[in-house]
Amino acid sequence: MKELSKTISAIQGSSIRKMFNMAQQMDDLVSFALGEPGYTAAAHISAAAIQAIQEGNTHYTVNAGILPLREALSQKMELKKRVNYDPETEIMVTSGGVEALYLSMKVMLDPGDEVLLGAPYFPNYLGQIQMCGAVPRIVPLLEEDGFQYNVRRLRESITERTKLLLLNSPSNPTGSVTGEAILKEIAQLCIEQDLYVITDEVYQDFIYGDTKYYSIASYPGMKERTVIVDSFSKTYAMTGWRCGIVLGPQALVSQMVKIQENVVSCVNTPTQYGALAALEGSDETIRAMTEQYDCNRQLVTQEINSMPGLSCVAPQGAFYAFINVKQTGLTSEEFAIRLLKEGRVVVVPGSGFGEAGEGYIRISYVSSKEDTVKGLERIRAFMKQLMEEKHRG
Ligand SMILES: Cc1ncc(COP(=O)(O)O)c(C=O)c1O
Repeated sequence: MKELSKTISAIQGSSIRKMFNMAQQMDDLVSFALGEPGYTAAAHISAAAIQAIQEGNTHYTVNAGILPLREALSQKMELKKRVNYDPETEIMVTSGGVEALYLSMKVMLDPGDEVLLGAPYFPNYLGQIQMCGAVPRIVPLLEEDGFQYNVRRLRESITERTKLLLLNSPSNPTGSVTGEAILKEIAQLCIEQDLYVITDEVYQDFIYGDTKYYSIASYPGMKERTVIVDSFSKTYAMTGWRCGIVLGPQALVSQMVKIQENVVSCVNTPTQYGALAALEGSDETIRAMTEQYDCNRQLVTQEINSMPGLSCVAPQGAFYAFINVKQTGLTSEEFAIRLLKEGRVVVVPGSGFGEAGEGYIRISYVSSKEDTVKGLERIRAFMKQLMEEKHRG
């Protein structure tokens, strides 16, 4: 047989599978590993999708998605992002945020082009960069910088092949939110160096405390070089519905529409009607989720920082805490596997988010308060035993 595509064969599978496979065979676990809300979509969303099916709204739609959905998105997103997008030409509905990311990269990148990628990162970014034949330029996001870009380091990573900067705020896995001052400097740098930007804002609705959210696309000179990626997955607890959003300049969106035609034609039609109902309905579920996550976030930060051997920067957004486990002397994978086997808590090793995540674990705090408390108690007991063992040498 002839060789399969070198580009695709070179892409690594998820390194965290091993742990999840182990967890599958165990019971009495508390899971802090979930990357999605613990809620399901509100009843009015499901009702709208069911109604679409019953009324026969089950045919192909235009590639960019039904116009009423794009019109509703234009209004909602202007409020959220403070940028206006034309529903006819600058908005596209995609199969989840991941497809939105892929289409954005695909229309910008040629093989050999470089992409600035802050690390630790959402692993799909790396896979997609590689699927485009492009090259990641990893820029470490350090704990002492609150896991935000250091603009000097960013500048030093730019070469003449660099075409695109990837931003993810609020971040998966660190929970950091890029502050206004840094974002303005990054915008300046992108204009000066003529870079495109993809800003992944799928966690925008989960922001805590005094933290303010800014979209880089709202700064002067940025809309024309930026694609905003958003999604219904996290905001409306619709992960399995597969509905994402692209907001960008017409020149880019029109190219993405061509790929959509060739690859999936359109997003599942009942899903689009559900998404429209989500935008038109009450935001009560979003408020309830945010309140619950904020409560868990405070609990996690306080508890973890009071445990000898562990520490974490207070997350400002999303629903993840990135916990420093370096004092234990274990690698992040060793730590996660021992915590699973001995403490019966599932977490994700930081190394699953690139080398820069080594020495950390990711906790997702979407569970109920009771489970969060239970999981934290188990981590405390595990840490006590681990630190005693370490001191015994
Ligand atoms: C940072 C980030 N971006 C995008 C996505 C994509 O989500 P979806 O494709 O479900 O919209 C995720 C999902 O976990 C994520 O964590």
